[in-house]
Amino acid sequence: MSRVLFNYEGLEVDYASYAEQVKQNHANLHELTGKGADFLGWLELPIHQDKLELDRITEVAKKVRENSEVVVCIGIGGSYLGLKMGQEFLRKNFTDETELIFAGHNISSDYLNRLFDHLKGKKYSVIVISKSGTTTEPAIAFRYLQKDLKNRFNDYKDRIVAITDPESGALRQLATNEGYETFVIPRNVGGRYSVLTAVGLLGLSVLGHDIHKILKGAAQGYYDLLTDKIEENIAYQYAVARNKLYQEDGLPVELMVSYEPSLLFLNEWWKQLFGESDGKDGLGLFPASASYSTDLHSLGQYVQDGNRVMFETIINVKKTNTELIIESDERDLDGLNYLTGKSVNFVNEKAMEGTKKAHLEGHVPQLLIDIEDLSEETLGYLIYFFEKACAMSGYILGVNPFDQPGVEHYKRNMFELLGKPGY
Ligand code: PA5
Repeated sequence: MSRVLFNYEGLEVDYASYAEQVKQNHANLHELTGKGADFLGWLELPIHQDKLELDRITEVAKKVRENSEVVVCIGIGGSYLGLKMGQEFLRKNFTDETELIFAGHNISSDYLNRLFDHLKGKKYSVIVISKSGTTTEPAIAFRYLQKDLKNRFNDYKDRIVAITDPESGALRQLATNEGYETFVIPRNVGGRYSVLTAVGLLGLSVLGHDIHKILKGAAQGYYDLLTDKIEENIAYQYAVARNKLYQEDGLPVELMVSYEPSLLFLNEWWKQLFGESDGKDGLGLFPASASYSTDLHSLGQYVQDGNRVMFETIINVKKTNTELIIESDERDLDGLNYLTGKSVNFVNEKAMEGTKKAHLEGHVPQLLIDIEDLSEETLGYLIYFFEKACAMSGYILGVNPFDQPGVEHYKRNMFELLGKPGY
């Protein structure tokens, strides 16, 4: 049984009319003959992991965990969102046993100062992640934290792990000079497709999650989604359906919604994956997200009744980790006794069903993604599902889904304004 299911409501999709195009794109993807073919290393990551490297990730994670009350992961974009997504998706407790927090994903002195205050008197380690090794946000954060670690700990070298390009970039150079432990982001894996490398796996292992199970789920996704037949490949069905809603039905916004707070950062990771992959050459769906029922009390009015520019992609978790039953109250002052004996999940389910019906009546078509549970295996499967769908989606659109030339524009302006040599 697949860990992820795909369906839709409020639209009609003629898969057959896309079958040939999908077949051709699939061949381009797997034969490395399409756009961005240099960045297809992610395709085989679930099945071609180096066992020794995985053992080293687990060992280093254990050492970091034992050595630290807090672990600071420095990175931005693809070097941040995948790990954050995994942390939240797999969360079982309100706080993590080893506190894992983030830096280098903004340029805020307030944030960094608050972080320093928080780290005062605590034993901590740093995992610094940057594929290019030259990104400004993580470089600034690392400069400060590295100095603090050097000042405070004799064993500071054991408290820093760098994940970066195998050879080039300032971070690789620095880590080699200082003798830090390092892991590699393969050259042919782009930032937003890198969560199944040490970029995501090391931090998740620090948190005590089983990275082998994540990869097992991803491998199941790999084999399930290996067919070029659209009627059998749900990743390709999702890619086709969203492109159909965009190009044929003229809806430029895809709103990813979920009813579990654990999926908040799945939304964020998905927005980067699809936004950076699709959004170029004047094309692409705008990826937006909402966390229901919270956002039904803020965005709900617009979705129901505002400008008809969007469709929803609804992620439904079939089995949550826990259950909570609503108990009877003698006085029933809050009027909730009618729910006695029902679970909170049941109420959430009815909120979802009611909202789906209302939004359909408000002419918001819906793509439906059911996921089995919030386990490591399902996370791995879902990651691969979205990556494969994203690649196909970009090819259907006719763009290169593996580059992000637009991101450089603000950087050039910023460097010029900052007076960086060469700009
Ligand atoms: O997907 C991408 O490649 C980007 O979003 C990067 O992940 C992001 O810009 C961070 O880059 P780096 O890992 O080189 O610091």
